[in-house]
Amino acid sequence: MKNTVLTFKRAKEKGEKLSMLTAYDYSTAKLIDEAEVNSILVGDSLGNVILGYEDTISVTMEDMIHHSAAVARGVKNALVICDMPFMSYQTSVYDAVVNAGRLMKEGRAGAVKLEGGKAVCPQIKAIVDAGIPVCGHLGLTPQSINAFGGFKVQGKTEAAAKKLIEDAKAVEEAGAFAVVLECVPTKVAEIVTKSLNIPTIGIGAGNVCDGQVLVYQDMLGMFRDFTPKFVKKFADIGTVMKEAFAAYDREVKAGSFPEKQHEYTISDDVLEKLY
Ligand code: KIV
Repeated sequence: MKNTVLTFKRAKEKGEKLSMLTAYDYSTAKLIDEAEVNSILVGDSLGNVILGYEDTISVTMEDMIHHSAAVARGVKNALVICDMPFMSYQTSVYDAVVNAGRLMKEGRAGAVKLEGGKAVCPQIKAIVDAGIPVCGHLGLTPQSINAFGGFKVQGKTEAAAKKLIEDAKAVEEAGAFAVVLECVPTKVAEIVTKSLNIPTIGIGAGNVCDGQVLVYQDMLGMFRDFTPKFVKKFADIGTVMKEAFAAYDREVKAGSFPEKQHEYTISDDVLEKLY
């Protein structure tokens, strides 16, 4: 069944959990969609896991559009949410609406996600008013990594937790249909989840959220530069891939691949005329 913002609304009302995974390409998106995951996030984490940057700061609108369109081509039922990259919405409400529109028109996303609380609520409201569903993102917001001074758990002090709760309410009030909570204490995520009528999607925010999201390379053991505490490795595909690459290398070098069944033939009549 096709997942939309209504799926998110109904899941919250019924207390049903929502699943979300990242994807950045057609083939992976198709597999995730076939696995009936509710939503695919074309995260700007592609800066880390696809492009090899240290952070998400350098990711461009063109990067996001390119990967979102590839994902959208592989998806039948999952809701495709595309991240708005750094400086595509912070600069002005006008920029935010124009760029969210491009992610829908050119990237074929079904919704956009942007980071921040009260400070970006005018942007969220304007994008929603333009008919584009918005997912918020609070807690550890990687685009603010330089302001945070590193990848650190957020909302641990009384003031920070209160601000997080206020920001979540403001993001809902501005019209967001869901909000991602990244790297926050479970008890704070629980207060936020109970305070909102829209679903919270956790990543490092415990089992109290209305849904969960993971970066697929993390949960498949394919990205090994660093593994946050909240990641569960559901399969070690990274090792399987490495072993397969090594087997290919061995067989090519030994001359045992390709075999007969991998070859194309030509009729003897034609062949004879070639000599
Ligand atoms: O970019 C991303 O993959 C994200 C998730 C970590 C929530 O924003």
